[in-house]
Amino acid sequence: MRVFVAGGTGAVGRRLVPQFVARGHQVTATTTHPDRLGLLTRLGAEATLMDGLDAASVGQAVAHARPDAIVHQMTALSPDYIGKPDFRHPERIAAITSRLRTTGTDHLLAAAEATGVTHVVAQSLATWPAHRDAGPVTEDEALPPEQLPAKLRFMARPLRYVEDAVVKAGGAALRYGVFYGPGGGIENQIDLVRKRRMPVIGGGAGYFSWVHIDDAASATVLAVEQRANGVFNIVDDDPAPVSEWLPYLAACVGAKRPLRIPAWLVRPLAGEMGVAIMTEGRPFANAKARRELGWEPRYPSWRTGFKEEAA
Ligand SMILES: NC(=O)c1ccc[n+]([C@@H]2O[C@H](COP(=O)([O-])OP(=O)(O)OC[C@H]3O[C@@H](n4cnc5c(N)ncnc54)[C@H](OP(=O)(O)O)[C@@H]3O)[C@@H](O)[C@H]2O)c1
Repeated sequence: MRVFVAGGTGAVGRRLVPQFVARGHQVTATTTHPDRLGLLTRLGAEATLMDGLDAASVGQAVAHARPDAIVHQMTALSPDYIGKPDFRHPERIAAITSRLRTTGTDHLLAAAEATGVTHVVAQSLATWPAHRDAGPVTEDEALPPEQLPAKLRFMARPLRYVEDAVVKAGGAALRYGVFYGPGGGIENQIDLVRKRRMPVIGGGAGYFSWVHIDDAASATVLAVEQRANGVFNIVDDDPAPVSEWLPYLAACVGAKRPLRIPAWLVRPLAGEMGVAIMTEGRPFANAKARRELGWEPRYPSWRTGFKEEAA
């Protein structure tokens, strides 16, 4: 197949492009930075410049590539875009990413239609910092913004938007769990854990649904090859509360046990998002992705993945 990866230089893109290439697909991948074109070429893709927020740029890049499928992996979460993240203002951290999930999705879908591309797969998120006791989130469930603390409601709309838009267009939205693995970003957390600066907040009863970045990529390849239609939770089999995975991660890297700090004390620094994720996060269930995509994650549990990461 000819596959167009919008955002080939990001955490997912860098692991995804080589997987497509290894399975015999022809890949065009994008960046906004001319000095990153070489990286994409080295990954095996035809590299192209594209600004996902500029309709003309997207239209030209897609028309030139003439792909069979488009994969939307555009976010703006690296320090290049957000500088040093201020967790007290998560809406600022998410601002450009939210536009990429709304306007960026619109531009890709318009370009797909204009070029006759009939399948689009897009990145969504398996994080819901509310209603932990309601059990695992499945793909059938609407996640209403009203469930979220008022300061976090901004995160729901762009996710709902991208999911609804691509599914309506016959494509798939993949709700990735929290990444670890090469380029996945857990290095920063490991650094904090080593310095004992990542505490278990408010008892740590909030769930994280983790996924190794290479497993996220392999699920994406399957969704493209199978022309999947619908929402899929791409998380491992083992969602776990912070009170379990954080001390485990500390042990894996030979650090002291994390401190335990009450929510009220840490809220001024960690912000509403940090506290809600650590105390209220809901787990996500992956049965649909396993059943319908035939996805078999290489790391069914973060327990083995973290050990490897720490080694
Ligand atoms: N589920 C999760 O846990 C999750 C999801 C997403 C990200 N993250 C984490 O967030 C951190 C940063 O993510 P990242 O490394 O993927 O970097 P990022 O800065 O979020 O960029 C992701 C991709 O989007 C592209 N992009 C950004 N703005 C664009 C625009 N206007 N038009 C077209 N493409 C655009 C980037 O390309 P260029 O900058 O090269 O142009 C890059 O290819 C990582 O640690 C990652 O693991 C986690």
